[in-house]
Amino acid sequence: MFGLRLSSGGGPRYPPLMADDDSRTGSTYLTPSIVDWLATTHAPNDPALQAAYDTPKETGIPAIHVGASEGKVLAMLLRLASARRVVEIGTLAGYSTIHLARALPDDGHVHSVEFDPKHAELARANLARAGLAHKVTVHIGPALEVLPTLVPYGPFCAVFVDADKGNYDHYGAWAAAHVRKGGLLLGDNAHYFGNLLDDSAPAAAMRRFHEQARSFFDTVCIPTPDGLLLGVRK
Ligand code: SAH
Ligand code: DHB
Ligand code: MG
Repeated sequence: MFGLRLSSGGGPRYPPLMADDDSRTGSTYLTPSIVDWLATTHAPNDPALQAAYDTPKETGIPAIHVGASEGKVLAMLLRLASARRVVEIGTLAGYSTIHLARALPDDGHVHSVEFDPKHAELARANLARAGLAHKVTVHIGPALEVLPTLVPYGPFCAVFVDADKGNYDHYGAWAAAHVRKGGLLLGDNAHYFGNLLDDSAPAAAMRRFHEQARSFFDTVCIPTPDGLLLGVRK
């Protein structure tokens, strides 16, 4: 008989039962070693992903890419949505971009927007090494200027927002206008580094991003370490 009994009678192996929402008390059970073990178990980086993951520490650009598990969450959500045309706002060295591009069919495409030419160049090299150059265009420029030029490639199946937090409300509004019904809005750093409720302009922009998204998408905030807003276009 396989272990269908959930409790073995050998004394409690877990903390007392409580709703998961009680992680609001500050305990998410997500220790650094558990984060690493889970990523190794479910979302290991292959050499192309690892190269993009390591580019920041090797080149001195900021190491602010998504985690390995979050990258895989992005990819699996795109697969579930049968995504083909995707916009990413904030490329960095292309780590999340590789996850996104791999989740698409061969004729799918990621338009990734990056305003720092050095980041864009590193990303293009990482994408080429991953064999994904044909599936991704890295557009260089401030997203608010580049996004209008992407409209002819839409409507889009998903928009992943991961750039300057003070403009998230604008990026969310653009996504609402250009994502197809059933398509996805994905927003990294939706907890705004723990400052979501602060009295600052970017915190207010992030709250508007959440609130406006709710009008156009069916939404939930997935409690990754810094929050991933997920919306399905109504
Ligand atoms: N999505 C990447 C990480 C992006 S980090 C990953 O997970 O691998 C955020 C990136 O957004 C940085 O490279 C930064 O240069 C870029 N960025 C910041 N403000 C921007 C803007 N207004 N327009 C376009 N890119 C911007
Ligand atoms: C920063 C930006 C990000 O998108 C992120 O995921 C982590 C950190 C930053 O600007 O510090
Ligand atoms: Mg981020």
